[in-house]
Amino acid sequence: MSLHYLVTGGAGYIGSHLVLALVGAQHQATVLDDFSTGHRWATEGHEVIEVDIRDLAALRSALLHRHFDGVFHFAAKSLVGESGQKPLLYYQNNVTGTANLLEVALENDWRHCVFSSTAAVYGSPQSAVIAEEHPLNPVNVYGETKLAMEQLLSAVHKQGAMHAVCLRYFNAAGAAPDAHRGEWHEPETHLIPNVLRKAAGEARPLTIFGDDYDTPDGTCIRDYIHVLDLAQAHLKAMAMLHREGGFHTLNLGSEAGYSVREILRACETTVGQPITHDIGPRRQGDPPRLVADAGRAGQILGWRATRGLREIVDSAWLWEQERQRLQAR
Ligand SMILES: NC(=O)c1ccc[n+]([C@@H]2O[C@H](COP(=O)([O-])OP(=O)(O)OC[C@H]3O[C@@H](n4cnc5c(N)ncnc54)[C@H](O)[C@@H]3O)[C@@H](O)[C@H]2O)c1
Repeated sequence: MSLHYLVTGGAGYIGSHLVLALVGAQHQATVLDDFSTGHRWATEGHEVIEVDIRDLAALRSALLHRHFDGVFHFAAKSLVGESGQKPLLYYQNNVTGTANLLEVALENDWRHCVFSSTAAVYGSPQSAVIAEEHPLNPVNVYGETKLAMEQLLSAVHKQGAMHAVCLRYFNAAGAAPDAHRGEWHEPETHLIPNVLRKAAGEARPLTIFGDDYDTPDGTCIRDYIHVLDLAQAHLKAMAMLHREGGFHTLNLGSEAGYSVREILRACETTVGQPITHDIGPRRQGDPPRLVADAGRAGQILGWRATRGLREIVDSAWLWEQERQRLQAR
């Protein structure tokens, strides 16, 4: 059955891949975005509602009498460093914006929401792998706002008004370069695109933050999940909500941990040349290891990551060359 979904933040990195997956699954997708970090080229061919979710009156009027079978809520600010410098912006954008969106959703009787949460809600890990039962103790404002967004959804669910899944992503990576989609943030804070931008000739330095952690090679270990695997998990989460309803929090990760040096080596293999980098001091708040236990998503959604590091890096490198061409236009 073809359904029609609203995708907030659908002009951004992960949201634009979800739009492709929805269309691929014969659904309709309408993007809602203010283009603060999203890209117009990523929405070509799709209906777009340009509005800032912080503006309740504008949101209400843009969505009046619209019917959607559910909402995928990606729209958020997500730079950890910036969140500490601009906490009010982050609370207004992420938390107030979500409250506004939920208000309009309830007014229009949309009752299913899949929300982009993050591993940042856990804070400093207390175990080698992180399951959903891990204490929730964010160590930055970004993580605090994401936890508050989860709590908002939970409260609205308890009121009997909404079924929701909060998907706690670990590190999203990779691209669908054949569909002209990929990661493009300014500034870019994620490791793989930064390594590949350096390999493609960008002049700024590439720094590894700390090589004296208690890990096999001294650099931090993270869990990288291909953006196309993430998109599939969203489709499954929405389908599950339509079947069973409820409120769920699920980790989305590959359950494999790679160190910064391993990522560098994987990128060097893909590009076929060494990539120059420096070693800098540790960044405050960076735990040595963050790896998901994604067993609950496996049980509840029948989902697991199917794409490994090679596919992530190869697709990200193809996309980086496409991105350089777009940038040069
Ligand atoms: N990229 C990751 O590794 C990662 C990891 C965990 C969680 N997340 C979450 O996933 C979501 C998507 O991440 P992304 O990397 O695609 O980010 P992104 O910045 O590429 O996309 C966010 C989109 O939301 C839009 N937006 C932001 N504020 C808005 C507002 N007030 N009104 C309307 N639109 C607004 C932006 O213009 C952009 O298109 C975010 O909620 C992020 O917190 C991302």
